[in-house]
Amino acid sequence: MNHHIGSTNTLEAAPVAILLTRLFHEATESDAKLRELFGALSPEERARRMSDPNADYREFYGRAKELYLAVGPNTAKLLYLLARATKARAIVEFGTSFGVSTIHLAAAVRDNGGGCIIGSELQPTKVVQARANLAEAGLADLVEIREGDALETLARDLPATIDLVLMDGHKALYPRILDLLAPRLRTGTCLVADNADASPDYMARVRKVGGGFLSVPFADDVELSIKL
Ligand SMILES: C[S@@+](CC[C@H](N)C(=O)[O-])C[C@H]1O[C@@H](n2cnc3c(N)ncnc32)[C@H](O)[C@@H]1O
Repeated sequence: MNHHIGSTNTLEAAPVAILLTRLFHEATESDAKLRELFGALSPEERARRMSDPNADYREFYGRAKELYLAVGPNTAKLLYLLARATKARAIVEFGTSFGVSTIHLAAAVRDNGGGCIIGSELQPTKVVQARANLAEAGLADLVEIREGDALETLARDLPATIDLVLMDGHKALYPRILDLLAPRLRTGTCLVADNADASPDYMARVRKVGGGFLSVPFADDVELSIKL
């Protein structure tokens, strides 16, 4: 039951809250599998692989197609909070996976009065599961998930103005995805980039004084920026 009479909060009410409890539980188990697969790598080697612009990311993410790789609960809540604070109506997400972050963004857009989230995901089986999760959350009407490489799928048919961006796909592509979205950003558009440390070119871009952004490291491995 929603006890917040007079206030609307899709995130903390059924069915979203119940679904997210299950998804975060599964994501934690999935992270343990990830450590089994890649735990043998040193932190330096792992960072090098993540940021290698020539890495075969299709092959890597193909092998990771069973894994959630989801944002943590605090980053997820931050997404909801930022989307509410900025009254976001148009959101673009690079890297949807099973839709944990997408559910938070869509819940915020619902509470902002409606709009559209454009997600992107390489793996067809992940797209199917993400759509099912969004349907279970009662949020499917707000979300379009584009299947395929975001370098292609986010190169067309974008909203005239984007209020918020989540960068969470292959890290070395962040600057190229930013190039695709840049013409649609407005003053005050928020960019949230997960594991941005693994994308030094992106970091240099958003942190450059006079470069059109203001940026700050935030929480665990998140870079939070606004378009000036
Ligand atoms: C870290 S996970 C995303 C997690 C998701 N944002 C969440 O919080 O649940 C990264 C996802 O991006 C996808 N991905 C990586 N590179 C991509 C690309 N070039 N285009 C589309 N999706 C990509 C991967 O298949 C993977 O599922």
